[in-house]
Order: sequence, then structure tokens, then C-alpha cells
Amino acid sequence: MTTSRKTKVGIIGGGPSGLLLSQLLHLKGIDNIVLEKHSRDYVLSRIRAGVLEHGFAALMREAQCGERMDREGEIHEGFFIAHDGVKDRIDLHKYTGGNSVMVYGQTELTRDLYEARDKMGGEVIHEALDVTPHDLTSNAPWLTYRLGDDLYRIDCDYIIGADGFHGVSRKSIPKDVLTEYEKVYPFGWLGVLSRTKPVSPELIYAKTERGFALCSLRSQVLSRYYIQVPLTDRVEDWSDEAFWEELKKRLPQEVADQLITGPSIEKSIAPLRSFVAEPMRYGNLFLAGDAAHIVPPTGARGLNSAASDIYYLYHALMDHYLKGDDSGLESYSQKALARVWKAQRFSWWMTSMLHSFPENSTYDQRLQQTEMEYLLSSDAAKAALAENYVGLPF
Ligand code: FAD
Ligand code: DHB
Repeated sequence: MTTSRKTKVGIIGGGPSGLLLSQLLHLKGIDNIVLEKHSRDYVLSRIRAGVLEHGFAALMREAQCGERMDREGEIHEGFFIAHDGVKDRIDLHKYTGGNSVMVYGQTELTRDLYEARDKMGGEVIHEALDVTPHDLTSNAPWLTYRLGDDLYRIDCDYIIGADGFHGVSRKSIPKDVLTEYEKVYPFGWLGVLSRTKPVSPELIYAKTERGFALCSLRSQVLSRYYIQVPLTDRVEDWSDEAFWEELKKRLPQEVADQLITGPSIEKSIAPLRSFVAEPMRYGNLFLAGDAAHIVPPTGARGLNSAASDIYYLYHALMDHYLKGDDSGLESYSQKALARVWKAQRFSWWMTSMLHSFPENSTYDQRLQQTEMEYLLSSDAAKAALAENYVGLPF
């Protein structure tokens, strides 16, 4: 037997995109249910993004989820680019007329969203298996899922596909409707989280002949470091000692000398890939976040692009339910994609400038070097970098 129920908005995926939209809609009295495939502990064990655009931070506050972020997150007004044994600072504050980013981990942000959902009595159904959207082009789309042996059906007005890159939503759009654009990079990022004091109060993006490295942080006692590795490497190949040794070789000497090492509490390899699916709407299914697009992590755009989709969807759904105005829903895909492609461009540019590309000719290498020299010698180029890094307007 199938148990049936109704809601206005059915959300597939309980990652940051799905939870944030759920919370924002609930605050406006718009019923919704989130279906998440995994357990809450599993979702919260994934160590991912760490840098939030100021516009995203504002959206978290609007969702009444900004209190801990404002208390424990760090406002960063600049970051460093290290190259040729030295580091240069990009002054975000100066080049953007006073803007900055918020350093606050995706894990903590997701935890805050879960807590807010619990407090409001929001419905997030975990371990919902075989989630399947139906009748997407009708006015009455519906979802089915399974909990153990029990089958459930949810009838909705709209379905939001916020189920990440490997989710079911995008796959339920017919192939001839969707155009997919993809670029796969021949390397990944090996990331280590360690309970150590960060080597620098501000992030350091380092370009060296040995490959890219990033010194990031979650707090003044929790560091996050990454190094570029070939796609053939496996996490098991990298002992903590080997990781620290390689990281030091990719940092200017004065930074390497300051690096405090310790046991890793998480270690993983993330492949680098760019991907966009167009359009982001099919009938009454709307894609958001990683379900529709992903970027290589270099420019810290992934989670932020997800947040901008949620901003547009939230306003579009509010206009529909509270004002009877469907123009936001009609223009959602076009509006979201315009910003998504700018984030794609920026991530590609940062990735191209900072990584070692084994297949690059000596000509390509000289161009890459010149790109960096130009950036660091031009206020206009630094301003363009800063404008994109703090986040383009929604
Ligand atoms: P996800 O976080 O993938 O959430 C989707 C959810 O849907 C998951 O919980 C999943 O379990 C669930 N799901 C999947 N399939 C189904 C299904 N069939 N049914 C039900 N539920 C399902 N971004 C930044 O902006 N800044 C950064 O600094 C940054 N750093 C990163 C570093 C790393 C190492 C990585 C890997 C990513 C980084 N990102 C960064 C990207 C960022 O983490 C993602 O863009 C973000 O998680 C997207 O959120 P989402 O909610 O759209 O998707
Ligand atoms: C982090 C990840 C990024 O991709 C980035 O550009 C900056 C910071 C991080 O995980 O801290």
C-alpha cells in the first residue's frame, strides 16, 4: 500500500540548496517537504566548501540561520596568491568598495540549516530511497519514494531538484530537452582537515611548478589544506607525512617554515570538473545547485552558485504564492544560467592560472605566467578578480 500526502513544493535533496530553500519558503508560510537519500550524519560528514559570498551570508541571515555563522565565521577582506617563492595580497575590501567573504564551513552551515528546520517543525525525510519524480509537465507533478519496505507518494505544485550532481532530478529530464556542457580536468585536489592553527590568517592560493596548493581554514584551530594531485592518485597513497612534505614544497619558504602539522581528521580527493545543464527547468521541475552545474573548486564558487539559484527560486516561488505572479518562475532558468556561466568562467580562469597542466606547451606555460604577472601588476585585473570572488550581484 502507498501512503499519499500533499505539499506545495517537493524538494529532492537535503544538502545546503534544498535545506536553505525549504527554510526560506517555510518562513513565508509555503509548505514543503525535503526528501534526502542519506542519513543526517552522513550529510554532515562531508567536508566541502569553506568560503561564502557576502550575498549568501545575507541569505542565511534572511533564513534566520545566520546567528552562529556571524559569531563563529570569519570575515575575510583579502587573500594571498603565492608564486615564485613570494606572496601577493588581493585586497578584496579595497577593490570592491568594502566587500568581503565569510569563511564558514559548509558542514557547519548545513548543521545550522538542519537545526532551524527542526526548530520550525520543517519536514526533512532522511533515507528516502528510490525517489522518483512523475508527470513533470503536468500541473500536478508527484514524487514517490520508499522508506524501508513502505512506499510513499507526495503530490505537489512544483518539484525542486536540489539533489547534487549524481541525483535523480536531472536524469529525469528527457535527453533531447537538455544540453550538457562539460570540461574534465586531468587532476584532482587532495584535501586534508587538521586540528592545527592555520598557517595564515587569510587564505593562500599557491601556484608552483609542482602543482597548485591552497591553505584554507575553518577556524583559528582548524585548518584545511589542499594540493593538486594526478587523477590516478588514491587517498591511500598519501600518508599524512607525505602530504605535509609536499604541501611545504609548494609554499614560499617563510610560509612553509610556519606550517604547523598534525594528524589529518579527514582526507579525500575531489576530481575537478566543470559542468552545466541547460535549461534548468523542465515543466514543473526546477533544478538548483550541483544538480544543474558544478565548477572546479578553485574560485570557491560551487556552493555560492547553488545559493544564487536558491535566491532566484525563493523569490520566484514567493511571487507565485503570495502575489500570483509567475514571471520569476518563467525567467528562472535564464536568470540563473546567466549567473552560473559567469561563475563557470571565473572558476575556469582561476583554475587555468593556478594549476600545472601536464599537457601544456612551453608557449602555454609562458602565457600562464604572463596572466599571473598581468594580474599582480594591474589594479583593473585585481578589481575584476575581487569583484568575482566576493560574488557578483544576484
Ligand atoms: P549537494 O551538497 O551535493 O547536496 C545534494 C543532496 O542531495 C545530498 O545531500 C545528497 O545526498 C542528496 N541526494 C542525491 N541524490 C538523491 C536522490 N536520488 N534522492 C534524494 N536525495 C538525493 N563551493 C564553494 O562555494 N566554495 C568552496 O570553497 C567550495 N569548496 C569545495 C571543496 C570541495 C573539496 C568540494 C568537493 C566542493 C566544494 N565546493 C565549494 C562545492 C560545494 O560543496 C557544492 O557546490 C555544494 O555542496 C552544492 O550544494 P547542493 O545542495 O546543490 O548539492
Ligand atoms: C576552500 C575550498 C575552495 O575551493 C576554495 O577556493 C577556498 C576554500 C575550503 O574548503 O576551505
